[in-house]
Amino acid sequence: MSGLLTLRGLSRPVLGDLLDSAERYGKQLEGRDKESSELAGVTVTTVFFEPSTRTLLSFQKAAAHLGAHVMSFNPEVSSLEKGESLRDTVLTLSALGSDLLVVRHGGVGVPGLVARWTGLPVVNAGDGRGEHPTQTLADALTMRKHFGALEGLRMGLVGDIRNSRVARGHLWALPTLGVDVTLIGPRSLLPVANPWGVRIETDLDSALEGLDVVYLLRVQRERGAAAGFPSVSAYASRFGLTQTRLSRLHPSAVIMHPGPINRGVEICDAAADGPRSLILEQVANGVPIRMAVLAAAMGAE
Ligand code: CP
Repeated sequence: MSGLLTLRGLSRPVLGDLLDSAERYGKQLEGRDKESSELAGVTVTTVFFEPSTRTLLSFQKAAAHLGAHVMSFNPEVSSLEKGESLRDTVLTLSALGSDLLVVRHGGVGVPGLVARWTGLPVVNAGDGRGEHPTQTLADALTMRKHFGALEGLRMGLVGDIRNSRVARGHLWALPTLGVDVTLIGPRSLLPVANPWGVRIETDLDSALEGLDVVYLLRVQRERGAAAGFPSVSAYASRFGLTQTRLSRLHPSAVIMHPGPINRGVEICDAAADGPRSLILEQVANGVPIRMAVLAAAMGAE
């Protein structure tokens, strides 16, 4: 594997190998000796054009645990401000000795362009509404660790699916891993096409009880997602995981969310902070899965 731009087309064995590798790294991180030298001498450069807390820091931590040198490019204090182009910027990062670029950008397909321009392995850390492959892998790892297996799990992806790169990654990979995915949301936030052939529902209440995993998506107000709703409370009453809906979940059902969460919009405090919530486990699993992806991208696994 050279870089990771998309999960589309990856086979079950390839996805399974990444999850297995992440489980091994997870055990390494629980032990006394957390560091390895698999990527010693390698420079991993993070190139984030959109805000991030989880993804940026977990990639940096993952690279450090593998012994890599980490450079962080910050567009706001860079020569982009003096008019340098994106292409010249990433060629500069390559000339500075980057061996692998981790790219987040608001434009769909930009990580692929960067890979083409530089010839370097690139890991997509989120491209606009495109995909967020390592979030999907972290979530698959979280579910597999919690339930023991992915095959046959019934997951509802709820909310702003149209704008969600997380949802698109899930739709390309989770059915391959045996997860039964249903999309649940208002028509205005559902995808315009369904190349995955998954079930689509517009009524959360009728779909809720049959789910093992209620996966809530952030309402992306910055991408115009709230436009179809007169108020936040109108959205929450139809598609939010409220206290009432929480009490109707199957006893073994879990709640997931990629973060950051909008409390009181798609999720209530009791759901976010309660015992069913795997949200912080998703964050924690972001480190070993990114170790697995970086190692595979550099041919170390
Ligand atoms: N889930 C996710 O991508 O979070 P960040 O934007 O904080 O990285």
